[in-house]
Order: sequence, then C-alpha cells, then structure tokens
Amino acid sequence: MSESSGSSTRLWGGRFGREPSEALTRLSVSVHFDWRLAPHDLAASRAHARVLHRADLLTEAELASMIGALDDLDAAVRDGSFRPTSEDEDVHTALERGLLERLGALGGKLRAGRSRNDQVATDLRLYLRDAARQVVARVAELETALIGLAERHRGTPMPGMTHLQHAQPVLLAHHLLAHVHAFARDVDRFQDWDDRAALCPLGAGALAGSSLAVDPVAVASELGFRAPVANSIDAVSDRDFVAEFCFVAALLGIHLSRLGEEICLWATTEFGWVEIDDAYATGSSIMPQKKNPDVAELARGKSGRLVGNLTSLLVTLKGLPLAYDRDLQEDKEPVFDSVEQLLLVLPAVAGMVATLGVDDERLAAVAATGHALATDVAEWLVRTGVPFRDSHEAAGRLVRHCVDHGIELWEVEDSALQSIDHRLTPEVRSVLSVRGSLASRSSYGGTAPARVAEQLSALADAAHGHASWASGAD
Ligand code: ARG
Repeated sequence: MSESSGSSTRLWGGRFGREPSEALTRLSVSVHFDWRLAPHDLAASRAHARVLHRADLLTEAELASMIGALDDLDAAVRDGSFRPTSEDEDVHTALERGLLERLGALGGKLRAGRSRNDQVATDLRLYLRDAARQVVARVAELETALIGLAERHRGTPMPGMTHLQHAQPVLLAHHLLAHVHAFARDVDRFQDWDDRAALCPLGAGALAGSSLAVDPVAVASELGFRAPVANSIDAVSDRDFVAEFCFVAALLGIHLSRLGEEICLWATTEFGWVEIDDAYATGSSIMPQKKNPDVAELARGKSGRLVGNLTSLLVTLKGLPLAYDRDLQEDKEPVFDSVEQLLLVLPAVAGMVATLGVDDERLAAVAATGHALATDVAEWLVRTGVPFRDSHEAAGRLVRHCVDHGIELWEVEDSALQSIDHRLTPEVRSVLSVRGSLASRSSYGGTAPARVAEQLSALADAAHGHASWASGAD
C-alpha cells in the first residue's frame, strides 16, 4: 500500500506503481509561491494553443473552445474564484486542472509539444520583464522626488565629505543628484537586462525541442519576445536572466541603503540637517521624544536581504548539470522576494525624500566649517604662480594656525596670514567664502551652480524617459 497523498491532478503517474509519499509531496510542492506566475502561464498557454492549431493539432472549433476556456480561467484566477488546492503541485498543475474542469478531455491536448521545463522558464521571463517595469516605475518616482528636493534647495550649500570628514563645500543639489545618477544606472541595467531577457524558451519542450510542427517564432512574438532561445537545452537550463535580475535588484538595494544611511545621519541631533516628515517617521514605545528614521533604516536593512537573494541563487546554480534539474525550482523565491521588497521599500523612500524638510540655514552655516576652504586657498596660491606642492604646505600651515587658535580660515588676521606665508596677501579672502568656492568649481560635473543646473535638467529628462519605458510607452 502506498503512503497517502496522491491526486488526480498530477501531471505524471503512468509509469508509477505507488502513490507518491507525503514527504515527497510536501517537499516538491511549489504552488504556494509560483502561483503568481499564473497570468503569465495562461498567456503562454493561449500562444501555445494557437501554434497547435496552426500545426493542425487543434481544429478551429477546438482552438475556439480552448481560448474561451483559458480566458474564463484567467478571469477566475484574477478575481480569486479559481485558487490552487493543496493537491496541486505547482502553478502548471493547478491551471491544467482548471482547464480540464472547463473543457474535459480537450483540455489535455494543450500539453502536446511543451513541458513544464520550457513553460516555467517562459513564465519566469514574462513575470520578471513585467516586474522590471514595475520596479523601474517606482525608481523613476524616487528619482523625481530627489530631483524635486534638489530643485527646492538648489542654492543650498552643504559640507561635502570624504572619509565622513568635511572636505569641500558642495551644493546639496549636487549631492542629491549623485544619488539620482546611481538610480539612473540601475534603470539602465534593467533596460539592458530586458533586452537580453527578451528571448522565448517555449517550444524547447523538456530539453530537445519537439517533433510536432509547433512554431517557436510565432509563440515568441505573441508573447512580446524578440525571438525564441536559439538552443533548446539552453532554453530550459539557463537562469542567467534570474541571476542578473537579482544582481540589478541587489545593487539598487545597495544604492537605497547608501541614501538611507545618509538620511539617518543627517536626521541626528548632531547633524540636524534634515527633518523627516511625521508621515515617514516612527515613535518609541518608551521614549516619548523619539522620532525614528525607520524608512531610511529599512532601506538600509533590506539591502542585506537583496544581496542574500542573489547569493542564494548563484549558489543554487553553481555546478548544476544541463539541462533542467529540479534544483531550478529554487530560483523563484529569492527573485520574487527581491521584487516584493523593492516594491515595498521604493515608494516609502520616495515619499520620505519628497517630504523631507531641509534646514538650509544650518547647512549654509556649516558648509565651510572644519577648514573646508583650505583647498580654495591652495588653488588661489597656484593661480598666483606658486607650485601646488608649496601652496598645499602653506594652506596646511594656515589650517594648523586656525586649529591652534580655535578659529575658522576666514577669521585669521591679515598679519597672521603674512607671518604664515608672505604670499598669503589679504586678497586671498576673495576665495574664503562658500559662494566663491562653489562658483569656482565650474569644471564638467562640478559643484558650480551652473553645472548643477545642467545636471538637474538632464536628469529630469532621464527620469521622465524611465517612467515612460516602465509604462510601455517606449
Ligand atoms: N515547479 C517546477 C519548477 O519550478 C516546474 C518544472 C517542473 N519540471 C519537472 N521536470 N519536474 O521548476
């Protein structure tokens, strides 16, 4: 006698004398997570039915009934009236059951010329191409929020930092746009990825192709792919498109994390540069005064998980022999999680950025503190003909004098300037202002207001393009 758990919905069984064990069934079931592929599986089934018809494997009337039943099943999946049961091993099994319920024996014809191996690879590509657009739409909103913040504070200076130490004054807008550039590269990566992912595995069958005259080119084009995958073994084995997606998601997560970390710092009492809007902050259950930057922290925290998803998938793929192996079922949960986490975190970060309060005065007051105009002094000396090596030394002695006396560069007396280096004439004061320093950094990509304004408008155009790609307008 067999141990429990069989079901009439199984897609295999003819050659087995015993029912599958409960333990096997519980191990192998994936429908609780792959159910989200259902709309894509149904789209692929419609395309497959049409090629079966063109190959004279379905009559006109059979095709019409098949498409009618698939449409009906699709509607039932979408409104939740058709759900997988505990007997359904995976999404493909559940949907075949739904089709058989609607069509009887005719439903069994759809399986000709395809296998779950090419089906699942196709479904996952369709799902991820759709997910890439959803994620990019949310990234474009974040880009727009950062650009809006930069525009509202376009004249505000801040201390530019290296090693988290005051380095040179920069415009806050310049700094925010550096984050936007990182997000724009993430979008570029999703778009490049999409181009490589636009190949259709359906028609590869289990691994070797099909003896039936199904037309993979027609299926590919109906499903919005550029072409079929060129090699049927590769079609069912390849998960590069999943690994690449996880990488792009992980790097996006890392960019969110770096932004999140800065907002956490900037919102501290010690910095006091920004205030998070009440709608994007949380309180403490014990300390009534607390206002915590949880959105920024979760943006930082989620990145670990996104990197973990990439790692988990790469390790799953390592050493797998061609072609399909059941290990490949483990490709889905990590990438589904990456998509879901990004769709949770991106709107929260965009909202936090869009409503962030900035203390322009405080930023202006601290922009040049920490002797951050020392490079301006050195470069002023260079413009008077002093070799940079010497001017760096002289500016360094000036800083030393200021540190010893507890003053900033612009507070030094003329006589002290002269005694530090006779070439430090009072004219050096012309560069000892934040405005002068910012305006002087007018090199390509630099912090001068004119250069930053150019970036602002270029990135606003790019964000617009990203939103329209996501909406399918491109
Ligand atoms: N649930 C399976 C997966 O996600 C579908 C493919 C199963 N193929 C097979 N030969 N058992 O990979």
